[in-house]
Amino acid sequence: TQRVLTGITTTGTPHLGNYVGAIRPAIAASREPGVESFFFLADYHALIKCDEPDRIERSRLEIAATWLAAGLDTQRVTFYRQSDIPETTELTWLLTCVTAKGQMNRAHAYKAATDANEAAGEDIDANISMGLYSYPILMAADILLFNAHRVPVGRDQVQHIEMARDVAQRFNHLFGRGRELFVLPRAEVEEDVATLPGLDGRKMSKSYDNTIPLFEGGPKALKEAVARIVTDSRLPGEAKDPDGSSLVTIHDAFASTEQRAALRADLRAGLAWGEAKARSVALIESHVGPMRARYEELMAHPERVEDALLEGARKARAVALPLMRELRDAVGLRAMV
Ligand code: TYM
Repeated sequence: TQRVLTGITTTGTPHLGNYVGAIRPAIAASREPGVESFFFLADYHALIKCDEPDRIERSRLEIAATWLAAGLDTQRVTFYRQSDIPETTELTWLLTCVTAKGQMNRAHAYKAATDANEAAGEDIDANISMGLYSYPILMAADILLFNAHRVPVGRDQVQHIEMARDVAQRFNHLFGRGRELFVLPRAEVEEDVATLPGLDGRKMSKSYDNTIPLFEGGPKALKEAVARIVTDSRLPGEAKDPDGSSLVTIHDAFASTEQRAALRADLRAGLAWGEAKARSVALIESHVGPMRARYEELMAHPERVEDALLEGARKARAVALPLMRELRDAVGLRAMV
């Protein structure tokens, strides 16, 4: 069997990028025969970027309800909260001890933070926590603790998975005594939607505040957000270039081949941007509307979500504990003579 694993950080409201980049492909993978899946709420990761407990709590419920509403089947998928698996932090330490500091210096999130400090004329490490710095090691622990083969993610996470692969390789080499303690994971990225753009054309991201919510706010919020997608200033009737348009990319993430071709042809023939937006809203709503009804039902019953997570944690720990025991042995913490 192949193991598929992915997580979402519990710092914000799920957006279209999370859905098309991670949730949709992950759920599709979980339905393949011979696949065992582990999907989780990365709440330890949330602490790195957020010191507002209320927001983390709210986000956890929203993200959990989103997974369930999007069709995650808790019979097939082990669905859990990262912090219910404390072995994650234990493994993080074992991995930290075999990770080169220089490799962490090159991690995108850390580099972006030091670059920003440098540009502002500050000390390069100003306001950067060890949490941010070690973030990729915590993520490696998430993946390796379940010996995942496949990790469906958006493009922004690929570097982290490559780092997880490196550290797994090093660990196997140092402690495996010829055995593969860890599976080497591989990122799975859907090329078409690897980086869904946001309202301003940059990557859709909570940190840029340019997201389109998947369910929150109902059809009204969806319509308002789509109305704010930046387009060029061509007037109705003028020919428009669909290539490089964020609106078209977002539309395409939900469209059939025919629908994609039709929008392109119509824009070239002068369709107004406003019309293209209305068409995109209707298309997206036709996909997310039915799921939103389930989402709202779950948001009104947090105890159901909590029950599902606790059951998932039980299943996840049953997998994590034996491996963790083996790892303690392998590094010399427990092995008996
Ligand atoms: P996070 O919470 O930032 O994003 C969750 C998932 O959504 C994808 N994504 C996108 N995909 C396409 N276009 C976009 N604009 C877009 N924005 C977000 C992300 O690539 C990701 O797949 N560190 C991770 C969470 C994590 C994790 C893991 C993932 C923790 N441990 C282990 C996989 C395996 C993160 O912060 O993702």
